Amino acid sequence: MRTETPQTIRLSEYRPSDYLIDRVDLDIHLDPTATRVRAMLALRPNPAGTPGAPLVLDGDELQLESLALDGKPLMQGDYTCAPDKLTIAQPPQDPFSLTIETRIDPTANTKLMGLYRSNGVYCTQCEAEGFRRITYFLDRPDVMAVYTTRIEANRAEAPVLLGNGNPVASGELPGGRHFAVWDDPHPKPSYLFALVGGDLGSVTRAFVTMSGRKVDLAVHVERGKESRADYALDALERSMRWDEKVFGREYDLDVFNIVAVSDFNMGAMENKGLNIFNDKYVLASQETATDSDFAHIEAIIAHEYFHNWTGNRITCRDWFQLCLKEGLTVFRDQEFSSDERSRGVERINAVRTLRARQFTEDSGPLAHPVRPREYREINNFYTATVYEKGAEIIRMLKTLLGEAAFKAGMDLYFSRHDNQAATIEDFLTCFRDASGRDLTQFALWYEQAGTPRVAVSGHYDADARRYRLDFAQSTPPTPGQAVKQPVVIPIALGLVGPNGEDVGGEAQGLETDGVFALSRASDSLTFENVSAPPIPSLLRGFSAPVRLSLDLDDAALLTLVRHDSDAFNRWQAAQSVATRLMTRPDRPGDSRGADALAKALDGFLAEEAEGDPAFAALMLALPPETEIAQEIGADVDPDAIHAARTALKIHLAETLAPRLATLRAQLASSRPYSPDAGSAGRRALRNIALDLLASCDPAIRPADEAEAMTAAQYDEADNMTDRLGALNVAIHAPGIGEALRDRLLADFRTRFTEEPLVLDKWFALQASVAEPGTLARVQELMRDTAFSLNNPNRVRALIGAFAMNNPTQFNRADGAGYHFVAEQVLTLDTRNPQLAARLLTAFNTWRVLEPGRRAKARAALEHIAARDGLSRDVADIVQRTLA
Ligand code: BES
Ligand code: ZN
Repeated sequence: MRTETPQTIRLSEYRPSDYLIDRVDLDIHLDPTATRVRAMLALRPNPAGTPGAPLVLDGDELQLESLALDGKPLMQGDYTCAPDKLTIAQPPQDPFSLTIETRIDPTANTKLMGLYRSNGVYCTQCEAEGFRRITYFLDRPDVMAVYTTRIEANRAEAPVLLGNGNPVASGELPGGRHFAVWDDPHPKPSYLFALVGGDLGSVTRAFVTMSGRKVDLAVHVERGKESRADYALDALERSMRWDEKVFGREYDLDVFNIVAVSDFNMGAMENKGLNIFNDKYVLASQETATDSDFAHIEAIIAHEYFHNWTGNRITCRDWFQLCLKEGLTVFRDQEFSSDERSRGVERINAVRTLRARQFTEDSGPLAHPVRPREYREINNFYTATVYEKGAEIIRMLKTLLGEAAFKAGMDLYFSRHDNQAATIEDFLTCFRDASGRDLTQFALWYEQAGTPRVAVSGHYDADARRYRLDFAQSTPPTPGQAVKQPVVIPIALGLVGPNGEDVGGEAQGLETDGVFALSRASDSLTFENVSAPPIPSLLRGFSAPVRLSLDLDDAALLTLVRHDSDAFNRWQAAQSVATRLMTRPDRPGDSRGADALAKALDGFLAEEAEGDPAFAALMLALPPETEIAQEIGADVDPDAIHAARTALKIHLAETLAPRLATLRAQLASSRPYSPDAGSAGRRALRNIALDLLASCDPAIRPADEAEAMTAAQYDEADNMTDRLGALNVAIHAPGIGEALRDRLLADFRTRFTEEPLVLDKWFALQASVAEPGTLARVQELMRDTAFSLNNPNRVRALIGAFAMNNPTQFNRADGAGYHFVAEQVLTLDTRNPQLAARLLTAFNTWRVLEPGRRAKARAALEHIAARDGLSRDVADIVQRTLA
């Protein structure tokens, strides 16, 4: 390996900073290639640090112009300076000021960290370690300061100048320049710093907080796109209201600005008072955004807003505590979406994401605890584990403590740690103090990687009218953690009778709301007065992020499909039957298993589809191929999985066809269009019905009928959900001929030629086709004028979709998929290492593949690892993936 081994940062080596910064006064002169930054820092020794220690400021690719201490220029011998570090060996031991001038080139900044330009707009991204690319600083979250920012720019180029906090001054300057001054009274870590300068349009709204303060809200977007920002603004207002009502949290500045930029590594960023978004998560119109785009926009706007309390007012002591803000804030945004939309549907979607991303991560070489103990590159730890499993931990805490104690714990956390940089221990202590519960064992959820398995068996004693559930838990080994302790697993459960009736039963040791807390390696639970052999409904609402195995036969599961009172478990039961059918298919000529599932779904659709179309759409969606691969667990052949899934889909489609055709007619798109959850649910069901109908054997349904339906839906669509739904069917469904597919693809390309975000959908669809021609098509699309390796959204849409969303073609048996993605990773790494490293995580399942593919994937990984001068981001991922 030629990459020098980067330094490992360890939680156990945390030490408070030797110096603190109380105030930061910035003066920034924006220029496309030579931006000047003057930072005046008010420093003092930290009483908790080492007395007399040198002052070591972080930098990254910086060029120092001048340096003064208490206003006097520093002499050559008084400091040492490099692009990544500024050291003053003997700083004063009383409060002092440092004035640092640096010069940076925003146009040359292709990493999109620090200050850069996106489509001519100056913007910043500082989390986690981007502020050090603007000025030398103690760039760590436990150094919290009050900031003022003066921004100066050419007025024509950047008429809008935004900073953190409140606007306090602005004015004209000679030579066509102007300035604005922003003052943020709340102490914050440097990663929350932001500025924006550009020629932007905006939509605005006034908001009055619960205590009657007026706040000016604004969403700033590319000129001409203002009308597409209305939904985001509306979501912001609803988020602010919700946080007041549900968590008692009020906003704390006079303005709240959101800016959409087109080049952004992540989804969005919670900078204090100035959230910066990937425009994909702001811009939406009926014609350009799908229902799921609207839902994501709402969730991300909420997420970043909620950080104002969980992240900004209370921040993280160090980056090991990342889940303190991210897990908690994901939990909060999930609760918001559940209240705004349908709780059951939201929960199912959250679990689908958790299983697809976090369970996969947790079972591969990149598995790590929700609070990692070490890292080499922090950017690589913004993971599904930290986010999604982190949110599940908060949800379990709420389930175990109950609503009231959970709320008391949150309130205590907000009051005790306001304006502090806190830890997971601080957080859990608040809940212990508020509830009186010992959370020592619970804290293991933060420490142990891997998805716990829970095996359950049920035993009925008819004479004693007694039913016993035996539980056993275990967590598999993960990198660096061979042996695991039992964790506390809240299992929400109920007993269902053979015909769905209540069979009674009381159990000791069950918490009042039907939750069993499994804390030992094995345990059992006995129900008395059970009148008939029950069917256990376990892990209702997916009350813990575990894999459950329970040997219920298909008939019992299908009873749950029809009768469970818990929506999540009804869906889960159908998924379980489907998974079983795909991993252990019926023997040729015997389709009893698939017939039984189809019959249960048909009955369900007949009675309930119209009442809850969103839920019905989820019931009809088969588990994704990645989930089946995980179920198989070793020697995976993605082609075989795809074939099994396609076969079951066709079988279900053919049985359900008459019902689906009727439903589709009944659900005819309501006009005018509205993105609300109810209307979205109808469109979702209509789309999956079309997809199934177009999958039928032409002997069952004439192919030209499926084609006519698809073409009509595409041509008559007045919204993107319907149009993309039809295009998706045209491109994937076996029942659609090439002529229609080509016509619709070409129409879509022309119709949206000026709409990069829409063309991303067009790229992604084509990259995910499970056919051997796809790789060549992706390579051809890279030459499309709308494609660019410089824009993260384009890269994710085309190359990312191929690598992450097309299991058969990425995992081609000849290794060409791996080779292609490896080359793209290497190319991207020289421009944007963060983006390259994310793409590389597509290889995280390589070890469970069958030997032929495994060898080819390993070769591709080794090819990457052998490259000289890899970024720390890519080197870290490739080394851990191969380890
Ligand atoms: N703080 C993050 C943004 C971020 C992520 C900055 C990684 C630096 C590195 C932000 O709050 C966030 O979590 N954004 C998510 C979306 C969210 C809804 C989960 C994102 O960008 O994907
Ligand atoms: Zn976040």
